[in-house]
Amino acid sequence: MSNPQDRLNEPTLSTRGLQPENKETPISFLNTDIIPSHLFFNRNHFSYPTLTYSNYWLPINGLVRTPKVFSLQEIAKLPSKTIKVVLECAGNKRSLFEPKIFGEQWEKGAISQGYWTGVSLTTLLEATGINSNAKEVLIEGYDKGKRTDKNNEYSYSRSLPLDKALDPDTIIAYEYNSQPIPFKHGYPLRLIVPNWYGMASVKWIKQISLISSEFKGPYQSVDYVYYPNKENDSDAYPVTIMNVNSTIQQPVNMDIMNTGTHLVNGIAWTGAGEIAKVELSMDQGVTWLEAELEPSYGNYGWISWTYEWSVFQPGEYTIMSKATDTSGRTQPFEPFWNGKGYGYHAIDKVQVKIE
Ligand code: MTE
Repeated sequence: MSNPQDRLNEPTLSTRGLQPENKETPISFLNTDIIPSHLFFNRNHFSYPTLTYSNYWLPINGLVRTPKVFSLQEIAKLPSKTIKVVLECAGNKRSLFEPKIFGEQWEKGAISQGYWTGVSLTTLLEATGINSNAKEVLIEGYDKGKRTDKNNEYSYSRSLPLDKALDPDTIIAYEYNSQPIPFKHGYPLRLIVPNWYGMASVKWIKQISLISSEFKGPYQSVDYVYYPNKENDSDAYPVTIMNVNSTIQQPVNMDIMNTGTHLVNGIAWTGAGEIAKVELSMDQGVTWLEAELEPSYGNYGWISWTYEWSVFQPGEYTIMSKATDTSGRTQPFEPFWNGKGYGYHAIDKVQVKIE
């Protein structure tokens, strides 16, 4: 029998919602370059689906020249690629908006990074051919259920514009960190869309269809939409690529430390280019000091950064981190307010006391 005491010593996720299961990684457990699957956040809209692995097939149909049904064995034989990817939920850091915005109150841990292996979606689409009137690729998940705002039952489905679907790094993944994808993260096949917020990476793929019009499913036309106006839904636009962002991992908020030299470290990531620099401020943004960036691997990962902070004056400090990417985007002081609280990327802050 397991001793309940043992569990207290093991890193675990923090629960934000029980049904469906939504859990995030406490920031102090995001301290490795690759996040093992037991520390990988869970974001679900429904109960977990029931799948029969023994007769799993992937149909690709709709506006294709030859509809096909792939077996897992066929997919495994196709040329594969492995990419290191940051997967960040669009609602990550929602709890930091003030005033609070309705939705799961994610702190800073609805994010993970790891190696995904699979076949380019474009390889599968080469096998089926694409009709000239196809505009989008619709990916349907096996999970489904009711929403509070609609009567029908919906599956978790989302589409990608053709150009993003045909990007060779948009993959149908079957492994995470060299192991079959854990069930909760999409076994046996999951879409991985690097650079986009996590909602695009559909888990438990049931089928892929090519369509000629804009898909209007609720996980695309109601949720995962930025609503910038408080009064109405005007000027709404879809959530796609990740904002430039950073998180301070050490020290943690409310740390009490002695005077001396302390390592300040964290991560920074972006969905547009690479991280160009990370700056820190200990004086409310009056002066900024450049952090050292660790070498990065690939284009879609986060970058770790460090800074040796020498502090000899006791008192209370706010440490701020601000990332800039190669596409010229910088974290702003104030978050971009939007009605559903997506894409929080204001300058990160932790407060510490020096004694
Ligand atoms: N795919 C399916 N089928 N069902 C879902 O609820 N959630 C999406 C995406 N893909 C979701 C899904 C969202 S919003 C995010 S952030 C990621 O999966 C979360 O992936 P994870 O649970 O593996 O962390």
